[in-house]
Amino acid sequence: MLEREMEDALNKQINEELYSAYLYLSMSAYFESLGLSGFAKWMKIQSKEELKHAMKFFDYIVLQNGTVKLLPIKEPVHSWDSVLRAVESAYQHEVYITSKIYELVDLSQKLGDKATENFLQWFVEEQVEEEKNSYDLLNKVKMVEKNVAALIQLDSIVSNRKED
Ligand code: FEO
Repeated sequence: MLEREMEDALNKQINEELYSAYLYLSMSAYFESLGLSGFAKWMKIQSKEELKHAMKFFDYIVLQNGTVKLLPIKEPVHSWDSVLRAVESAYQHEVYITSKIYELVDLSQKLGDKATENFLQWFVEEQVEEEKNSYDLLNKVKMVEKNVAALIQLDSIVSNRKED
């Protein structure tokens, strides 16, 4: 059984995860417009990951006999000044999502909601992975930033990302 405050916060997190999916899909479209199909694929896979995250929260609320409330998804940015800026935004977004997960953990502890605190541990671990993935991509882009040939080569490398 979820307390109302926890249920509301989990519903907001569904929205955060769906927005994340939207943001990365928007980045995918931006990279397609630049002809960088490898980066576009990487972001599309990331977008699908976010949908899975949203569904984990959805399923958990249902499992706890709570009520899922889907909220409006805000419009993402459609273009960035450069590949570097887009990838920086992706990393910063993951840091932001980590802070939202931590807020949920804090709330579950405040309410003494052990089940939700336990459920959230998967996301605490997942965010370490999420930040690392985007940080690694950011570092690679920084290395090749001003070298178009190297950027095209990197595009080919990042296209190897596989869906989990
Ligand atoms: Fe759902 Fe990328 O965190």
